[in-house]
Parts: sequence; structure tokens; C-alpha cells
Amino acid sequence: MSQLLEVKVPDIGDFGAIPVIEIHVKAGDAVAAEDSLITLESDKATMDVPAPAAGTVKEVRIGLGDKVSEGTVIMVLEADTALPASAPPAAQPVAQAPVVASVIASAEPSAPPAEDREDELGRFRPAEQEPILAPSPSHVPSPGQMAAEMMGGHKAHASPSVRAYARELGVEVGRLTGSGPKGRILREDVQRYVKGLVSGAASASPAPTAAGGLNLLPWPQVDFAKFGPVQSQPLSRIKKLSGANLARNWAMIPHVTQFDEADVTDLEAFRTQVNQESEKSGGAKLTMLAFLLKACVSALRKFPEFNASLDGDNLVLKQYFHLGFAADTPNGLVVPVIRDVDKKTVLELAAETATLAKKAREGKLAPAEMQGGCFSISSLGGIGGTAFTPIINAPEVAILGVSKSETRPRWNGREFEPRLMLPLSLSYDHRVVDGAAAARFTTYLGQLLADLRRSLL
Ligand code: COA
Repeated sequence: MSQLLEVKVPDIGDFGAIPVIEIHVKAGDAVAAEDSLITLESDKATMDVPAPAAGTVKEVRIGLGDKVSEGTVIMVLEADTALPASAPPAAQPVAQAPVVASVIASAEPSAPPAEDREDELGRFRPAEQEPILAPSPSHVPSPGQMAAEMMGGHKAHASPSVRAYARELGVEVGRLTGSGPKGRILREDVQRYVKGLVSGAASASPAPTAAGGLNLLPWPQVDFAKFGPVQSQPLSRIKKLSGANLARNWAMIPHVTQFDEADVTDLEAFRTQVNQESEKSGGAKLTMLAFLLKACVSALRKFPEFNASLDGDNLVLKQYFHLGFAADTPNGLVVPVIRDVDKKTVLELAAETATLAKKAREGKLAPAEMQGGCFSISSLGGIGGTAFTPIINAPEVAILGVSKSETRPRWNGREFEPRLMLPLSLSYDHRVVDGAAAARFTTYLGQLLADLRRSLL
């Protein structure tokens, strides 16, 4: 015996007035129990409303773009069999919105939307979140999710029903290009992809079920309080932004770090002397960082592939020299950029880095002051350490790490003599730079720092 049922929007957690973004059925369509009827999308999640029973759609009471809340009648269904009185309501529990989102860097485009979570039927699980635009991201993907997103091709933006459909056909949604609003992957995109595969048109793409990503284990969920007292504190905005960028850069760029050292004995003696003189006259303080900036410009001129960015199959070689330097601030790492380093004196560079570092620490850097960099320097020399492996600041292709200089015995061919040695750690993108070029770069940089007159040559 059939029964007319009003299908209502179930308990969808804290969401209200959510737009209907997809309607999967029309009056007269036969549906099976659990088939997806419509898809809703809040600013945090996408979710499907499934059919409470098998039957025929008699009437659709909502349209695309309508806003619905829990209890809104979306359609009338003639169920094939009467539901028992004790049957569960159409509403099914909604999972908590995932605590992840994609973040856009201050200057760079966003990582794609976060992975959804869905049950086997792809129902009622918040599916994805829109990218949150800088400067105020409220969530950040976990490191595992971030790395998986980075390595797994572009991130799929699809409703649970489309994902379930794709899964049924053995298609990895991450391989698809969406033709829906905001690049959303539609059922038709899945069909088109499968048709393309069958006709051979998609032969250039990886096989639909081929594993493309890192296939990482989920991030460990640990109740730390079980092991001892803990305190949870939110990450700063800068940490969230830079963390997302660092994770992307670390996962997407094949890094190699070349270690070297420069004899800065004479340079440091010169710097100290100038500073002593200018202290008397109240002049600006010369810093090692300013000399490093200047020396790097000379090295970038000699090895232009370091002053470049990858653009698909092209290498964009820059004719300008804007250099970033990592600045440690109470809220996290930022990278102010000094424009036209080649056109400035070492003293001007020292003054400008000091001004920018101060602004960074006060949180007053404008976005434009962190954009357009060609190459970066991360100096930990004032703090300590012997070497480290800096992460490249994409889309740059190399970064120079500098550690603390120390006086060490150096063999000069006749005897050991004390020399002040500055450790250099150059991380480079191995897609662009070969190991031999990196060794030449640091060797040349070392020669320049040992005798800056070389930069005049
Ligand atoms: N070796 C030995 N001593 C060094 C040095 C080096 N490589 N570099 C700097 N110093 C000394 C300086 O001479 C200075 O001493 P002084 O006052 O006696 O002259 C002291 O260390 C402090 O220098 P600092 O304040 O760090 O100035 P700076 O110009 O060297 O660096 C910044 C400026 C902004 C780069 C620096 O303050 C900073 O934030 N560094 C951290 C960068 C970072 O976090 N990187 C990590 C990215 S993963």
C-alpha cells in the first residue's frame, strides 16, 4: 500500500536558511530509499537530503536557490510501501562540520576547498567548505590534509551525491574538472569523464582509479589529556596563513638544500669598523643581512635561473631584484620584501630591513610589502645554529638560510688560522636548479662575502 509523504529538511545541525544548490529529481521520477533528492550548501558545508523511502516524486516544492531550514517541506513523495509507525524520520543526524578549511595566503591564490567527509552513502555529512579569503581565515587544514591536498592533484569540489556516483563508477573526483558554479563537479562532469575514457579521449589522464596522491594515513586523533594536563591555545592568524603556505611549498616543491660556508672575517671586521664610526656620528647600523642581500643580487645576476619562477612548462626569468627576508615576530614568521635591492646601497638596505622588521613585529606590514619577491633570505645568525633546511617561498625557486658565524681553524696551505665562518644553507627547487648550479651559486656567494670587491667585477 502506497503512502504520501512530505519530505522535510532534516536536522542539519546549527545551519539555517541554507540555499538549495542542486535538485536531483523532478515530479514523476522514481527514487530508491536513500537516493539523494537535493543538495544544500551552507558557507561551511554541503549536504544531501536523501529519500526517506522508495517511491515516486509527486511534487517538488522548492526551487534552485531557495533557502531552507530544518523542517522545510521540500517535496511530496508517494512511498511504495507505507512506512511503519516506528520508522525513523527522514531526518538523519548531521555530522559536525569538519574543522578544516582552505586558506589563501596573503599574496598567493588559495589552496582548494577542503576534503569532505561522508558516510558510505554520501549522506548528511558536511562535505566541503569554501575557501576563506585572507586576511581572516578562521580554520586551517590539518597538516595531513594539507599535504594530501597538495599531492593529490586539484581538490574536488563536489556534493556527496556526486561523490557517491563517481565512486560507484570508480572515478576519482580529484581528477575531474567541475563545470558547475564555482567549479563544482556535477554529475554530468563525471559522465563526461567516463565517456571520454571509453572513447579514449581521456587517455592522457591517469587511470580513474590509479592512486595519485600521497595516500596518507589520517592525522592521529589523540586525547592528550589522557596522558597529563594540557592547555589548548589557538594558532595566531599569521601562523595559520604561513603554515598553510609552508605545507603547500614543502609538499609541492622538490627541495634540496646545499650547505656551504663563507669566510666573512674581513667583512665582519669592516662592518664592525663602520658601525663604530657611525655610532660616534649617530649613523645607521650596518648589518650582515644587508651585505647578504647585496651579495645575493650579484649571485642572482650571475645565475639567473635562481631569480625565476615556474609557470607551467616555462621558466619566468625576472629582470628585477626584489628580495624577501624572513622576520621573526611575536605572532609568527613573515617575509617582508625589499624592492630593487640592486639599486640600493648596503646602508640603505640595512635601514630598510630594520624599518620593515620593526613594522613586521608591530603587525603593521601592508600586504604589498610582502609581495613580488624573487628570492628570500632567512637569517637565524643572530640566534644560533649551524645549519638548517629553509622551505622555499613559492613561487620563488630558492631561499638562502644563514646560521651563526663562528671563528674556526682554517688551513691556509701553510698553517691553521682563525677565520670567521658563516654557514649558508641554500634550499632550491630541483625542478629548476641542478645540484651543480646550486654548488656554483653558494661557492660564488662565499667568494663574494669573502671579498665584496668581487661584486664590482
Ligand atoms: N652570525 C653571527 N651573528 C650574527 C649573525 C650571524 N650570521 N647575524 C646577525 N648576527 C648578530 C648581529 O650582528 C647582532 O649583533 P650585534 O647587535 O652585536 O651587532 C645580533 O646578531 C642580532 O642581530 P639581528 O637582530 O638578528 O639582526 P639581523 O639584521 O641579523 O636580522 C632579522 C634581522 C629581521 C632577519 C632577524 O631579526 C630575524 O627576525 N631573524 C629570524 C628569521 C627567522 O625566523 N627565520 C626562520 C625562518 S624559518
